[in-house]
Amino acid sequence: MSTEKEVADEFEAKIKNLPREKNLVNDVHLYYYQGCWIPDLICSGVFSSERNFMARDDDIILSSCPKSGTTWLKALLFSIVNRTYLFALADNNPLLKVNPHELVPFIYHSQSLNIETIPPPRLLATHLLYDLLPPSIKTSSCKIVYVSRNPMDQFISLWHFSCKLKGAEAEPHHLEECFDRFCRGIHAFGPFWDHVLGYWKASLERPHKILFLKYEELKKDTASNIKKLAEFLELPFSEDEEKQGVVEEILTLCSLENLKNLAANKNGTTRTGFPNSAYFRKGEVGDWKNFLTASMVERMEKIMKEKFGKYNFSF
Ligand code: A3P
Repeated sequence: MSTEKEVADEFEAKIKNLPREKNLVNDVHLYYYQGCWIPDLICSGVFSSERNFMARDDDIILSSCPKSGTTWLKALLFSIVNRTYLFALADNNPLLKVNPHELVPFIYHSQSLNIETIPPPRLLATHLLYDLLPPSIKTSSCKIVYVSRNPMDQFISLWHFSCKLKGAEAEPHHLEECFDRFCRGIHAFGPFWDHVLGYWKASLERPHKILFLKYEELKKDTASNIKKLAEFLELPFSEDEEKQGVVEEILTLCSLENLKNLAANKNGTTRTGFPNSAYFRKGEVGDWKNFLTASMVERMEKIMKEKFGKYNFSF
């Protein structure tokens, strides 16, 4: 385990030669590290977790590109894994008290969290590209759940998020400029195509280790996907549970309408300092149609065809 001083020195040495760009989300910088644009605030956590994070065989790692449904999946995973006691807690269910990001921390925040003390199975998250995952995640038997989303909706979600962070009074970020950067892969944890393809290819090679989900399919049939998640985690719902409606209870508990209206998610901020409320908006498939021009759509479709076509992947 490295000391704080070693981590700080390593950070300075690594970061000074990395390409740097402004992040459209919150005006901080992104550093291009091993094929991925990483927000400056978490660079040191990424470097340190790369070296120090030790995955356990029973860990469950949620991965996603930001704005793909991370918050929803955190709530669903937490509910599925803890369901045997969760509903008995009634109003004391942690999901009713705190934002899902509090319950499923990002591994690169481990410096400020004692993730070693989380009881098994640990539920942890990351936005890192597959190739950048700490090695022990790949070599251990831990499971990875990946959630992807049509990049046009993902971009629109990101744009709204960035405008929300600027504040209602401020001039919104320029949509065209943000879109151009997104298409060039310059966004937190981008490029999105490398993100999606890294996990897609790995999930084909190791289907028992990596479950690849699509936000659109989750929206279309949430109940089947909750069952699919539980089976993948080797925690399938029993016949009794199904008869008692546990799947539907989880679905309702984790629904956007429910989470969005909780005081815990209307107020306060996450560990990253972003308002909890910014993580809940419309949750619609195809909202991009309300914002993108024909030429933007054409550009994005071209990128998707170029990047995804040869891998037989589409949204
Ligand atoms: P929109 O901005 O399109 O509404 P992330 O959690 O990765 O930051 O993604 C945020 C997106 O997921 C937002 O999309 C948000 O509204 C949506 N979302 C958050 N909670 C959700 C839930 N419980 N069910 C469905 N979508 C949800």
